[in-house]
Amino acid sequence: MIEHPAFTVEEWSVRETELHLDLLPQTESIFALSNGHIGLRGNLDEGEPFGLPGTYLNSVYEQRPLPYAEGGYGYPESGQTVINVTNGKIIRLLVDDEPFDIRYGDIQEHERELDLRAGVLRRKVQWTSPTGRAIKVSCVRMVSFTQRSVVAISYEVEPVNAAVRVVVQSELVTNEAMPEKAGDPRVGAVLKSPLICDEHKVEGTHGVMVHHTNVSGLRIGTAMDNLVEGPPDTVIESESYPDIVRVSITAPLKVGERLRIVKFVTYGWSGQRSLPAVHDQVVAALSAARSTGWDGLLAEQRAYLDDFWARSDIEIEGDPEIQQAARFALFHVLQAGARAERRPIPAKGLTGPGYDGHAFWDTEIFVLPVLTLTSPNTVADALRWRHSILDLAKQRARQLGLNGAAFPWRTIHGEECSGYWPAGTAAFHINADIAYAVTQYVSSTGDTAFEEEIGLELLVETARLWRSLGYLDATDWFRIDGVTGPDEYSAIADNNVYTNLMAQHNFRAAAEAVQRYPDKAHTLHVDVEEAANWREAAERMFIPYDEHLAVTPQDETFTEHEVWNMAGTRPEQYPLLLHFPYFDLYRKQVIKQADLVLAMQLRGDAFTPEQKARNFAYYEPLTVRDSSLSANTQAVLAAEVGQLQLAYDYLDEAAFMDLHDLEHNVQDGVHIASLAGAWTALVAGFGGLRSYNGSLSFAPQLPGDITRIAFHIMFLGRRLRVEMTATEATYHLLEGSPLQVRHHGDEITLSVDEPVNRPIPPTKAGPRPTQPPGREPMQRGARTRYTETPDKQN
Ligand code: BGC
Repeated sequence: MIEHPAFTVEEWSVRETELHLDLLPQTESIFALSNGHIGLRGNLDEGEPFGLPGTYLNSVYEQRPLPYAEGGYGYPESGQTVINVTNGKIIRLLVDDEPFDIRYGDIQEHERELDLRAGVLRRKVQWTSPTGRAIKVSCVRMVSFTQRSVVAISYEVEPVNAAVRVVVQSELVTNEAMPEKAGDPRVGAVLKSPLICDEHKVEGTHGVMVHHTNVSGLRIGTAMDNLVEGPPDTVIESESYPDIVRVSITAPLKVGERLRIVKFVTYGWSGQRSLPAVHDQVVAALSAARSTGWDGLLAEQRAYLDDFWARSDIEIEGDPEIQQAARFALFHVLQAGARAERRPIPAKGLTGPGYDGHAFWDTEIFVLPVLTLTSPNTVADALRWRHSILDLAKQRARQLGLNGAAFPWRTIHGEECSGYWPAGTAAFHINADIAYAVTQYVSSTGDTAFEEEIGLELLVETARLWRSLGYLDATDWFRIDGVTGPDEYSAIADNNVYTNLMAQHNFRAAAEAVQRYPDKAHTLHVDVEEAANWREAAERMFIPYDEHLAVTPQDETFTEHEVWNMAGTRPEQYPLLLHFPYFDLYRKQVIKQADLVLAMQLRGDAFTPEQKARNFAYYEPLTVRDSSLSANTQAVLAAEVGQLQLAYDYLDEAAFMDLHDLEHNVQDGVHIASLAGAWTALVAGFGGLRSYNGSLSFAPQLPGDITRIAFHIMFLGRRLRVEMTATEATYHLLEGSPLQVRHHGDEITLSVDEPVNRPIPPTKAGPRPTQPPGREPMQRGARTRYTETPDKQN
């Protein structure tokens, strides 16, 4: 866990003022910069020491065999692993005879700051070499949101106490040596030297390299240029080798003089383009970066983020740590999706190799709903990516003996990469999750062109899958047997309620969309009978209910199973998946992550308020939260059933998952779904935002310490600000034509003329539900994780 004083608490920055070498792996993920296309871990400029070097390009992966002790029909034969591509952020420094290496000599000052408004990572160091030469290094690094292929770095060095001769080596390095992999299934595989050189060139301050992967056949180009400002006798030399391009800049510096390098690095890749084409692509991007210049790129970055924050910022009064965490979370969610452009949004974004760089249902259920209301364009792109892999999903369905499309549980390129089918292929709910994201996007944006072109087909092919996966039984109930729901501690169960409710939604959405676009539906060969079949399946969907306990079982037989021995499980035995066999987890009542509780959030229209409260109280003592995807959902439902302090505690867990490394694995990359979940806990939890069937409702209520929350969203082309205090909510339509919403069930009409105020009714709640012993969330407010509150930054 990362404890004080790792980061200071500020409104718009995450700042580290001391260097803790043991935290480097974690801070590299936290300080990662990305635009969804390029991802740079927050590695030190000089390359060493490192926790894990990391430079990623969305969808650049290598294929590797998936060996099985015992194979089986339909098992995926090969896996896909994100690779560490050419590292363009390396700038090494020699001070007289000593390499600048923070493991040697003394550090007088160290600061790194992730600036959430400027969209840059700043670093300042004052260091004295073992021979007593003191220097200051200031560096600013950016991955451009506006120029998708561009990384820019400003690097300055100046002597402090005596003249020095410095050599700055600005490099492109391919096939870096990587640390070995640990024995945790959540960690990505390490591939040695995955890139083969096609070309390397350098001339003066600029260089280019092109490599390709061996099996996946992708070609990757990287180019750099270095603008040098130094004293007149500065000398520049350059050299290139298959895996290194180096520009060395030597300058004698007197006290008061400095050497500055602005390094532009551009990336491009293709599975189809030729070597000259990829070469030219990165060289062209470099020309564009040079012509915009460093100041221009900074200004563009700021403008892009100003626009983003104007439509998505959350203001929180009364809890500055949550304020910081909420903005940090939104920033990383934006980074993951901003310029992914028809490519997947992986579970770790592009911040680390965890889960092999794969995208899961995390995207559609946790990330896209946030982006739908804050950056809708990114959602259309992410769903276009799903659409682009539809043929592969159809082939997979055929292989499984099913109709329609069976999307992969985890993938980069589109093929199923899960070698563990009970918690992989059997998690068919991903198909309904994609359909859900489509309907949320369309009903929140009104983008009918997208619906017709992309959405309809996704809805139709997923509905077809469900129709063939389930069946009408002798009593005319539509059953979906033998599938795995979100909770991975149960598998191959009959009638998982989450799955059935989401499939029901999928059927209805497909049937309705077919009516709206009959011509397009015709081209997909949907006839009246097929749509009627979907409606019937939705109508007759079997939702089990345990009359005896008066709760909804997670699946048909779940509540009949023995309850896991929670009291006998020691703290070090969590996560259970690393300490117990799956067969034992599967046959007991123990829940890894919100499942039925998530169904009550996404399909809240299918439960009464009383059922929600009863179900929530039943599942709390069984849920161990071994997945970072759980706390945010529990926060939302806790708030809905009036357990505001519990919701606040779960918000804490979702929001600090990465900043405090709660699961001890942030070194493999940040948890994008949990970060998105921090927003969801605030907006859907305390704001009570729900959007069912295209209508927007709120039910604001605040927990103890927080005195005010204000959030912004985009909905049907309008920009809306919702502000709540303990007693009153204020709805302010900032842009767009009048809009009807609900406040605690009452309809109100909003217009730009005047904000609307409404009182917040008192919260009613039963007793606080309990959690498994030792798995209670940390009480928010009882313990402040940071004790120091430095000056706020503007
Ligand atoms: C969770 C899955 C999730 C995956 C990637 C697993 O631990 O159980 O629901 O999709 O992590 O985040």
